[in-house]
Amino acid sequence: MKVFVAGATGAIGRSLIPHLVKAGHHVTAITRSKEKLGTLYELGAEPILCDVFDAGRLGSVLAQAEPEAVINELTDLPQSLNPRKLGEYYAANNHVRREGTTNLLDAARGAGVHRFLAQGSAYWYAQSGGAVKTEEAPLYLDAPPPVGPSVRTIKEVEDAVLSAEGLEGVVLRYGFFYGPGTWYAKDGDVGRQVRKRRYPIIGNGEGTYSFIHVDDAASATVAALEGARPGVYNVVDDEPATAAEWMPVFAEAVGAKRPPRVPAFVARLIVGEAIVKWTLGMRGASNEKIKRELGWHPQYESWRQGFFEDTVTLSPRVRR
Ligand SMILES: NC(=O)c1ccc[n+]([C@@H]2O[C@H](COP(=O)([O-])OP(=O)(O)OC[C@H]3O[C@@H](n4cnc5c(N)ncnc54)[C@H](OP(=O)(O)O)[C@@H]3O)[C@@H](O)[C@H]2O)c1
Repeated sequence: MKVFVAGATGAIGRSLIPHLVKAGHHVTAITRSKEKLGTLYELGAEPILCDVFDAGRLGSVLAQAEPEAVINELTDLPQSLNPRKLGEYYAANNHVRREGTTNLLDAARGAGVHRFLAQGSAYWYAQSGGAVKTEEAPLYLDAPPPVGPSVRTIKEVEDAVLSAEGLEGVVLRYGFFYGPGTWYAKDGDVGRQVRKRRYPIIGNGEGTYSFIHVDDAASATVAALEGARPGVYNVVDDEPATAAEWMPVFAEAVGAKRPPRVPAFVARLIVGEAIVKWTLGMRGASNEKIKRELGWHPQYESWRQGFFEDTVTLSPRVRR
C-alpha cells in the first residue's frame, strides 16, 4: 500500500517506517528539516521537506504522493522533560495536533486517501471507576490545566478523524512509549533523572500506567493500517502497573538506585496540583480489543522485560 507518514522522524516514526517497509508498503514521509531527509531515506522512506502548517504545500505534496493511507504521528514535545514547563510543552503539542491534523485531513480528502490513522493517548482516561480502561471509557476532559487542554485537544483530534467524510478513521491510543529515542530509554530524560534521584515516587505510588515499547507500537500500527475497522484502539502492553510497581524495576534497568519517595503535598509544591492529581489518579488501558480484532500481540508483553531491552531498530536500507 502507498502510505504517507507525518511525524516520521519522531520516537514512534523512526520505528514505524522500517516496520511498514518490511511489510511491503511504499512510504512517503515528511520532515521540516533538511538534515533529517537522509535519516528518512536510510529508514526506507521517500523523504519530502514539508511543514504541516503550510497547508498549500502539504496539499500538493500529498496529491503528488497519491497515498491510499495517511498515518499522523505528529507531536511537538521536547527530549528533556521539566515537569514545571509542561504547560509550555503541551501548548506547542496541542497546536500541532489540532492544526496539523486539520491540514492533514483536508489534504488527505483532496488527494483521494481512503484511510487515516492518528495518534491518541492511553493515559488520559477519566479518573473514576476501575484501574484499567477499555476504549469506551470516558476521557479526563475536566482535568485542570495543563492536562485538561491536552485531553480536550486529543478528543477533538479523535472526533475529527473518526467523523471525517469519505475516510476510514482509526485512532491509536498509545501507552507511554519506552525504548530507543524516548523519555524512558536508558539515555532518555526520565532514565537520566531517575539515575540522579530526581524522579521520585509520589505518595504511595498509586495511579496506573500503561506502557508500550516503540517497536510494539510500530507493529500494532502496521496491523491497524492493514486490518483495523474504523474506531479507537488502545495500543498498550499486557501489564498496567502502578508507579510503586514499575518505578523500582525501571530504576534497576537504567542502573539507578531505588527511587526515593516524596509526600504528595511536597510534589504539589514542585510540579503543581494538576500533575500530581493526574499521576495519582491515572487509569491504565486494556489491549483486549486490538488483540481480539487484529490478532496483534506485543513482543514485549510487559515493561518488566522491555525496560531491560534497549533495542535499536535497524532500518531496511542499513540491513541490506
Ligand atoms: N505516547 C507517548 O508516550 C509519547 C507520544 C509522543 C511523544 N512522546 C515523547 O516525546 C518525546 C519527543 O517526541 P519525538 O521524539 O516524537 O519528537 P517531536 O519533536 O515531538 O516530533 C515528532 C514528529 O512530529 C513532526 N512534526 C512536528 N511538528 C511538525 C510540523 N509543523 N510539520 C511537520 N512535521 C512536524 C516531527 O518532524 P520534524 O521534526 O522532522 O520536522 C517529528 O517527526 C520523546 O521522548 C517521546 O518519548 C511520548
